[in-house]
Amino acid sequence: MIYMVAAIAAMAGFLFGFDEGVIAGAEASLIQTFPMSPFVQGFMTAAVPLGALVGAVFAGRISDRYGRRKVLLVAAIIFFVGSLLAAAAQSVVELTVARLMLGVAIGVAGMVAPLYLSETADSRRRGRLVATYQLAITIGIVVAYFVDYILVEVGWRAMFACGAVPALALFVGAIVLPESPRWLALRGRLDEARGVLLRLRENDAALVEAELANIASVTGGAPAGRWADLASRRVRPAVIAAFGLYILQQFSGINAVIYYAPSIFLSTGFESHSATILATVGVGAVNVAMTLVAMWLIDRLGRRKLLFIGLTGTALSLAAIAATAAWAGPAWSFLSVIALMFYIGAFAVSLGPVPHIIMSEVFPLALRGRGMALASIANWGCNYIVVLLFPVALASIGISGVMLAFGIVCTLGLIFTLRYVPETRGVTLEEIERRLDEGHLVRSSAV
Ligand code: BGC
Repeated sequence: MIYMVAAIAAMAGFLFGFDEGVIAGAEASLIQTFPMSPFVQGFMTAAVPLGALVGAVFAGRISDRYGRRKVLLVAAIIFFVGSLLAAAAQSVVELTVARLMLGVAIGVAGMVAPLYLSETADSRRRGRLVATYQLAITIGIVVAYFVDYILVEVGWRAMFACGAVPALALFVGAIVLPESPRWLALRGRLDEARGVLLRLRENDAALVEAELANIASVTGGAPAGRWADLASRRVRPAVIAAFGLYILQQFSGINAVIYYAPSIFLSTGFESHSATILATVGVGAVNVAMTLVAMWLIDRLGRRKLLFIGLTGTALSLAAIAATAAWAGPAWSFLSVIALMFYIGAFAVSLGPVPHIIMSEVFPLALRGRGMALASIANWGCNYIVVLLFPVALASIGISGVMLAFGIVCTLGLIFTLRYVPETRGVTLEEIERRLDEGHLVRSSAV
């Protein structure tokens, strides 16, 4: 049962990645159907992160009210309808509205699915299950790239329509899924919570009673913190670490690559459209592979070491892309492919997973929900700005200038990590909270 729960929540991650990635290969044929300026192109593409920002703002409140399962069900319907509307769009406006809908579904599912996973899993498997979700996002991206490659001759409508298939799978899954036992307990529906837990824990009654008592001790315990508490001196280091890492994650340029990889390849000298999409599939595959490596290393090397290694790698590879595009010319475009693969690998091993992990660790229990909501808003807001402005920036300062700017951000990220990111490897959440109380969240961290 627990594996089915994981598979279905991972389906939400897969859809998230698919809808992010599919635009990359669709862009070239889209521009032929609907000629548009770089600004309109950016606005249409960035409708997904904009919708996600809106979805993330409301996801917490509606899933507290109506339950995790119902909200996932509605997100699946929006995914399904949004995919078909995008495929059938007759104008850029219609396409932008469809992408806004897909974005809302991503914002909602992107918050509720990991929440559902962590509320349903037992503590031994929680970390691995939540990490599965990040892996599912990268798999969704690479599958979307592959679909783009296969359908390059058929065109963008077929590419978007494919998103309806996993949406249907999520819908069917959400129908058979049990409601989150923690949410049921929170609403005082203890008998139902017990029933679900018995199914999830293979009828181990003693285990279930212990877990129910544990849930009750928390739900009846400390009142939730207030939004204003996030600005207090005590919590500020946690806010700076979580926020700063998301700003860094997005301004490292990752989604310029994820959403526009084929355009980047074109501007560095590639000539055939299908070759650019094939190179993009390679980018997606490296992303998946290095996310697996990150999952293996994260509790061995620790968060800070991974960030130092990854940020050095992203800064150097961005500088290499900028230099190749500025001086080497089309005959050397293979160099930019190698550098871009390095960039994605270095990102996936560090700035990809680490912000999500730190975000879920540094906030004190009473403020965790609110802190995570605010951090997700920072994430989508910065994602929106980068995706919106990338085509305009590319048209005005060229690929070298843009890559150099992202490279400078990654270099500054090294200083940020040194000063503001705590090492949380092997530290319990209660110990992290105690460090916040004592005012030395970062200082007591080893490199
Ligand atoms: C980021 C996404 C990004 C993805 C790429 C995630 O960690 O939050 O914005 O598209 O990584 O793999």
